[in-house]
Amino acid sequence: QIFRTVQEVTQWRTGAVGDRRKISIGFVPTMGCLHAGHASLIKQCRESNDYVVVSIFVNPSQFAPTEDLDKYPRTLANDIDLLKELNVDVLFQPSPHEMYPQGIPLHVSEQRGPFVTVLGVSEMLEGSTRPNFFRGVATVVTKLLNIVMPDVAYFGQKDIQQFIVLNVMVQELFVNTKLVMMPICRDSSGLALSSRNKYLCQDSLKVASSIYAGLSAATTLIKEQECVVERETILTKIGHIWEPYVQSGDFEIDYISIADIKSLAEKREIKPQEDGLTVISCAVYVRDRKHPETQVRLIDNIIL
Ligand code: PAJ
Repeated sequence: QIFRTVQEVTQWRTGAVGDRRKISIGFVPTMGCLHAGHASLIKQCRESNDYVVVSIFVNPSQFAPTEDLDKYPRTLANDIDLLKELNVDVLFQPSPHEMYPQGIPLHVSEQRGPFVTVLGVSEMLEGSTRPNFFRGVATVVTKLLNIVMPDVAYFGQKDIQQFIVLNVMVQELFVNTKLVMMPICRDSSGLALSSRNKYLCQDSLKVASSIYAGLSAATTLIKEQECVVERETILTKIGHIWEPYVQSGDFEIDYISIADIKSLAEKREIKPQEDGLTVISCAVYVRDRKHPETQVRLIDNIIL
């Protein structure tokens, strides 16, 4: 079923659960243009829950004026086919007005009405390059969770800071939904799947796969060491792999971060046997070789 209004979802929700307390509802929020990365979240959601709800909403309040809100790829017919294939029960596809009755923000700085800000973990990395981005994300996800009221919601490690921010949000606002983080889906070259990969030509996609090659090389280096590894050593290793593309103008590095996975505080060194405590993440602008005026900002990360 496809619902466009909050009321329809609420009615369905009440009917689906009824008084059967053990029914579980799983939820996957998306902005559409679905690919295998989204599909992996939906498959997990399907396996673990009685009902699966997916939302498609290109949320204006998380786009900056300079970003690609109008250009953001929209492939609704294909998306619906995929959702049918994956046996999704409900697609929620609201209008901007439905989600923002106080007035539709054209972008991140124009939001009216209530919003949710998670101070601290939302301020660095993505938050420092994209001010108010996480305010838009936290606000829309709060609205969506309040509408769908799922038991579990699935997010990708691809946007790891988004997961960290939202997890703090649901915990500290006592939202009754458990968040689950799913691993990053990559293509055969290692490139993390992203709706924004569509903006790059084949040649540039190949170049972009070095993002992961750099992060992997750093991980291998850390695994091989038996003593403390300095931050600079890791940065040099990644820099070495990316250097040719920086020189050729294919890459412009926004940030490389080596941080604690909970606080996102930068680390000066990594001690051996610290499994699961550190995340190496990055954002890189990749220039399209066919249309050099196009630069696509790609993010990726590896958890050590
Ligand atoms: P969107 O970019 O459409 O992503 C929806 C979900 O899919 C996110 O949780 C994201 O981390 C996950 N995802 C994207 N690419 C992935 C990949 N290669 N492997 C695994 N998971 C992947 O993230 C958003 O939308 C929005 O910010 C949203 C949470 C919907 C709020 O508007």
